[in-house]
Amino acid sequence: MSCLSHASPPADTDTQQPKVAEDSSTKQGDIIPVDAELAKAIMSRRFQPSAIGPETWEGYIFSDLEIRIKESTDLYGAVLWPSAMVLCHFLETNQDKYNLEHKNVIELGAGTGLVTIVSSLLGAKVTSTDLPDVLGNLQYNVTRNTKGRCKYIPLVTELIWGQNVAERFPRATHCFDYILAADVVYAHPYLDELMDTFDYLCQDSTQILWAMRFRLDPENSFVDRFQQRFNLEELYDLPSLSIKLYRAWRKIKRTKEAAA
Ligand SMILES: C[S@@+](CC[C@H](N)C(=O)[O-])C[C@H]1O[C@@H](n2cnc3c(N)ncnc32)[C@H](O)[C@@H]1O
Repeated sequence: MSCLSHASPPADTDTQQPKVAEDSSTKQGDIIPVDAELAKAIMSRRFQPSAIGPETWEGYIFSDLEIRIKESTDLYGAVLWPSAMVLCHFLETNQDKYNLEHKNVIELGAGTGLVTIVSSLLGAKVTSTDLPDVLGNLQYNVTRNTKGRCKYIPLVTELIWGQNVAERFPRATHCFDYILAADVVYAHPYLDELMDTFDYLCQDSTQILWAMRFRLDPENSFVDRFQQRFNLEELYDLPSLSIKLYRAWRKIKRTKEAAA
């Protein structure tokens, strides 16, 4: 049932095409079929404009609609990462199990906004959050792609992990059905704050859908620490993209006092 109310950069940029899986059981050049097919289906959502116009953008097809995303190269949040496409593909193709219609959704580290846009097109009431510097471009993309197309206008707002989260999102009035996050774990110094933010926002009935790009061991250990607080289910494993998609939910139910 729906709730009532509404550093360092990532270490890689070779994100355009699925890579061949490096698995000792496969010969060089072999690709794990399920992974390769799914990765291909996900990556085929992207297209380039056929003509050069005054503004640069990248195109994506979700919900049978063309989505135009403006990127900018000066900020990491202004670039669209493949994890966002993975999460969007999952949401669009699993609406029977994860129906976002009329659901309260918050996205952490929304970046250029694709996940927010697709969730809104799928009928969710979305709160789209990121660092202050990223919000201008995020708002631009969200407005341009959701105006007149969605039941609920998404709210774009600042959320700096670990900073004033309880004041800005009191649990009594902000109960989220879903927390969405794509590629928020990498070599930045705010991993503990990110963990605490997940922990604070995730109520007993909340589900987290989180696409994780695996890069370096220190960040990857975030998954182990995450499992101390949350149950974790693997929804996709895409070795060719070094991405896994997880569903998570609270391990320990909060007492009434702690939930207040
Ligand atoms: C690698 S980008 C991913 C962007 C988007 N989710 C995607 O997949 O395309 C990481 C995002 O986390 C945001 N971020 C980094 N540190 C943050 C912090 N301390 N608080 C809130 N957002 C943060 C960045 O601004 C950026 O938008």
